[in-house]
Amino acid sequence: MSDAAPSLAVRLGALELRNPVLTASGTYGLGYEFARLADLGAIGGVVGKTVTMQERLGNPPPRTFETAGGMLNSIGLMNPGWDGFVRDVLPRVLDLPCPFVLNVAGESEEDFIELARRAGQLDGVAGLELNLSCPNVAGGLDFSSSPEAAGRIVSRALAVCDLPVFAKLSPNVGDIVPIAQACEAAGATALSLINTFLGTAIDWRKRKSIFSRGVAGVSGPSIKPMALLIVMRVSAAVGIPVIGIGGIATARDVLEYMVAGAAAVQVGTACFLDPRLPEKIAHELRELLAEEGVDRIDELTGAVHRQQEQVER
Ligand SMILES: Cc1cc2nc3c(=O)[nH]c(=O)nc-3n(C[C@H](O)[C@H](O)[C@H](O)COP(=O)(O)O)c2cc1C
Repeated sequence: MSDAAPSLAVRLGALELRNPVLTASGTYGLGYEFARLADLGAIGGVVGKTVTMQERLGNPPPRTFETAGGMLNSIGLMNPGWDGFVRDVLPRVLDLPCPFVLNVAGESEEDFIELARRAGQLDGVAGLELNLSCPNVAGGLDFSSSPEAAGRIVSRALAVCDLPVFAKLSPNVGDIVPIAQACEAAGATALSLINTFLGTAIDWRKRKSIFSRGVAGVSGPSIKPMALLIVMRVSAAVGIPVIGIGGIATARDVLEYMVAGAAAVQVGTACFLDPRLPEKIAHELRELLAEEGVDRIDELTGAVHRQQEQVER
């Protein structure tokens, strides 16, 4: 190993990031709200809260609920809509000292394609994440429940948008591997794995769910083992980069995801506890790599698979 500090740089297709730590959609606003609280120049990038065609007020409260080792949310994609985003948010996110990835969701396939077309016309956005997997709106999971639907949306989005395109998939399916492979075959730049797991919370005295829709999304440290396995299985089955998401709260979590097959990660629920956590994690990554004698963080990506091959040989 050389004396130089370890390199944290990673690549997602054409997109180069100074380090693999991004913030996860919906857990860090649209990024600019935190620009004065945190050093966003020290993180890999911000993925914005989902933007839809029309403004959405979201689901009736309560929208969040703390669980053992995490939380439930049923926000319902509250956002200013495309016009509000372009008018009020875009000028601010383009000033951020890190790449901004725009996350969008359509209510229909046509919506997704129109949002992708519009995103492709924006200067300064680093990438487009297609939220094919929101559990908190009617029909939100339909787009990542079948390989055909997911693949078709990705390929149609890429036909109208030159940005790197990430497909964000749901863990709430029988087998995620064929869906991931369909997105790869359609040309996706990377896969964002995963969105929240379905769950609920019950108020037993009222004999009903605390959530108006009866269902919500589980996130936080409690989902990490399941999400890690999904990243490990999918990354063994595809050749494109996987972005690991689920319960990441420490630099060690990041390194575990990378060894399991992730090229980059997103930090979500943990940002609510400390908005400076992503930058702290990025600093700590460098220390851990130096201790371990690793020159480049990207050497770790998928190491578990190479280890496995040796065992099998
Ligand atoms: C309050 C909240 C709001 C979220 N909103 C969105 C969203 O708008 N779009 C999206 O793609 N994912 C959304 N997510 C999912 C996260 O981006 C992430 O995939 C998930 O929470 C798992 O990561 P975590 O365990 O680190 O939170 C949301 C999660 C939470 C907790």
